[in-house]
Amino acid sequence: MADSVTIVEVGPRDGLQNEKAGIATADKLALIGRLADAGLSRIETTAFVSPRWVPEMADHEAVMRGVDRRPGVTYSALVPNEKGAEAALAAGAQALAVFTAASESFCRTNTNCSIAESIERFRPVMALASRAGVPVRGYVSCALDCPYEGEIAPEAVAAVTAELLALGCNEIALSDTLGRGTPERTAAMVEAALQRAPATMLAGHFHDTSGRAIANVAAAWELGLRVFDGSVGGLGGCPYAPGAAGNLATERLVAHFEAKGIATGIDRACLEATAEWITGRRAASTG
Ligand code: HMG
Ligand code: MG
Repeated sequence: MADSVTIVEVGPRDGLQNEKAGIATADKLALIGRLADAGLSRIETTAFVSPRWVPEMADHEAVMRGVDRRPGVTYSALVPNEKGAEAALAAGAQALAVFTAASESFCRTNTNCSIAESIERFRPVMALASRAGVPVRGYVSCALDCPYEGEIAPEAVAAVTAELLALGCNEIALSDTLGRGTPERTAAMVEAALQRAPATMLAGHFHDTSGRAIANVAAAWELGLRVFDGSVGGLGGCPYAPGAAGNLATERLVAHFEAKGIATGIDRACLEATAEWITGRRAASTG
């Protein structure tokens, strides 16, 4: 069978969590509908995090409940703890994602706890998810660099990967939060993670601050990864990672795989029109 790739759309969460001007809930719902129309089958829809920490995601319940669900599409939610998981599942999330980091300083700044405490917070999340029969992805932030600690050792990423797998996560998203990574350092990090997890359980989540995200995707692909995250229009960044620019644009990711002759199942023209549309909505909100 020909090689194929799964692209996870994180724009409605990772992209819009950083939109200070605020995007209307109706626009978020329209965006999610358009992404499904374009053929995205996994859409990280919102984040059930504290609205005091991330006000842009305060409408999480309205978004998750309001989504016009399409068959074959999984609508997931990012959650930091049991409270978020309960609310996300009650609102109809079909998958959850927890997030920790390979850097203590970033974990503390992002979630107000240590890495070990974050893992403890996830135990009740896993129990709720298991009862509901939904899968849980685990993000490892700062897999290459941390805004506070600098370069991160591949072994630190591998250790957190192993802990998330032991918890019961079905997929680990190795995340270059700052987008400063190089293909060489990406390969070293992925190789370390592969000592603890099969390639089928790893995904690549690359921000594109330095314009090397596609090269980093290619390095991870060579090592067997087949799941990559994109954010339509390159929206995004992390509010607790100063200097992190947008995520890798989903349409660029699709173009990259199309050029290699690898099936994505995504209609690039439709996606590009969506990118243009949401960029226009941002401009309307800002000004
Ligand atoms: P805390 O202040 O230590 O928590 O925050 P707390 O338990 O003391 O609660 C404080 C208040 O938050 C309470 O409300 C709780 O009820 C409420 P109050 O009684 O004061 O009114 N609260 C919640 N509200 C809604 N939903 C919840 C929730 N939990 C508590 N789930 C906490 C700890 C984790 C909650 C906070 O730090 C937080 O929400 N952090 C989220 C930060 C965030 O969303 N960052 C961006 C996403 S991560 C990312 O972008 C990286 C990623 O893309 C990968 C990569 O690129 O690296 C995934
Ligand atoms: Mg991110």
